[in-house]
Amino acid sequence: MLVHVITHGCQMNEYDTHTILSELVAGGHQIVDTPADAELIILNTCAVRGKPVEKVISLLGEFRKQKLAGRDLTVGMMGCLAQLEEGQALAKKFGVDILVGPGAITDILKAIEAVETRGESFWSLDFKDDLHSYLTPPPNTLTGFLTIMRGCNHHCTYCIVPQTRGPEVSRSLESIMHEARAMQAAGVQEIYLLGQNVNSYGLGRPDLPSFAELLRLVAATGIPRVKFTTSHPMNFTSDVIDAMAECDNVCKYIHLPVQSGSDRVLRRMAREYRRARYLEIIAEIKAKIPDVVISTDIIVGFPGETEEDFEATLTLYDEVGFDHAYMFMYSARPGTPSYKHFKDLPREVKTERLGRLIERQKYWSNRRNARWVGRNLRVLVKEVATDGQYLVGHSDQNHTVLVPKEQVRTLGLHEVRIDSATPHTLYGTVAGFATEAIPLMMAS
Ligand code: 5AD
Ligand code: SF4
Repeated sequence: MLVHVITHGCQMNEYDTHTILSELVAGGHQIVDTPADAELIILNTCAVRGKPVEKVISLLGEFRKQKLAGRDLTVGMMGCLAQLEEGQALAKKFGVDILVGPGAITDILKAIEAVETRGESFWSLDFKDDLHSYLTPPPNTLTGFLTIMRGCNHHCTYCIVPQTRGPEVSRSLESIMHEARAMQAAGVQEIYLLGQNVNSYGLGRPDLPSFAELLRLVAATGIPRVKFTTSHPMNFTSDVIDAMAECDNVCKYIHLPVQSGSDRVLRRMAREYRRARYLEIIAEIKAKIPDVVISTDIIVGFPGETEEDFEATLTLYDEVGFDHAYMFMYSARPGTPSYKHFKDLPREVKTERLGRLIERQKYWSNRRNARWVGRNLRVLVKEVATDGQYLVGHSDQNHTVLVPKEQVRTLGLHEVRIDSATPHTLYGTVAGFATEAIPLMMAS
């Protein structure tokens, strides 16, 4: 079959798409670049906020219209929304043929067979024990995503993820290291360790190393760069900070979602730390890792958030001086405790606060990015930017960096002198080459 996959949501979903694509290719199917050319379109969905759900609804509506108009199209739905009753109701309403939850993605070939040979629809919502097959990265892959654990044992009251991805399961050390070495052998320059809560890797499992130990083991392969996401402040222990400080190839970049600066709100969110503890962790990180870059997630307008609570978020932002933040308006998700028990704030209040927070983020990102001007950063140059004039890459500290296209003949790691900065992007000049690189012709 000719298949196209559309991915929404986080990096976990991108990794799942990669798994699905490998399975499809192994099963003799062909991947096409545009939905118009496909016989099967798979939507890898996200359910964390209302907006990505609305996007899925509009796509499903579009596909149904095309089917009614006579297009021979099979539609598949996977990802977090597929695991929820909400998603299953949509699947029924829009005549989705294949529905596989995040715990069952390896069922995809079975699903296609059921549809193709028996004309049946196929649903699978199981949580399988080991979803991980060894994936050889496609040629010229620079960044390898490597899932080390799945699921989440926290119960933040706003969050649907514990329901969609189930409880935490850590992957075996052997299979992680096998995949890391396979990536290295295939020329991958950067390994991104992924999990809903990477810091609880191995918790309660005496047969597994801790996350800090795992980080050191992956770094010891000698891969040029190791990054990881996402961390929960609750499990962000000193040994992780030490491993980051001591391993040269572990990137000095930390994404540590705080969600709110107010203890009252943190309690209602059931986040297990308080403002003072979060600031203590940040202080330790800054003391041990000079020039570290820190980003966060913040939700504004959580039910019951007062002006005073919101101002506490702003002052926390100033105290940390985040390099970057992902900011979200609270979205009441059916099935979460906060949806059931708390009353949503008026939309105008949420919009107004989000606007103020974005102003603060711009101010800080501008200031934090400006500190790199005149200095060299190591940049993994990955692809041609949309305007065609620049190549785009990411620094060790996860900045988006643009360099003029004519200065680069190969993709891969480069030394770049930073010339100017905006809140979102650094602009630089190539100052030197780095590791094994991929000829630029292959970048298009
Ligand atoms: N509303 C708004 N933002 C949310 N997030 C998770 N659930 C919600 C929700 N119901 C945000 C959190 C999380 C990020 C991935 O998405 O900030 O860290
Ligand atoms: Fe990722 Fe969470 Fe969205 Fe699922 S719901 S795709 S885990 S962000």
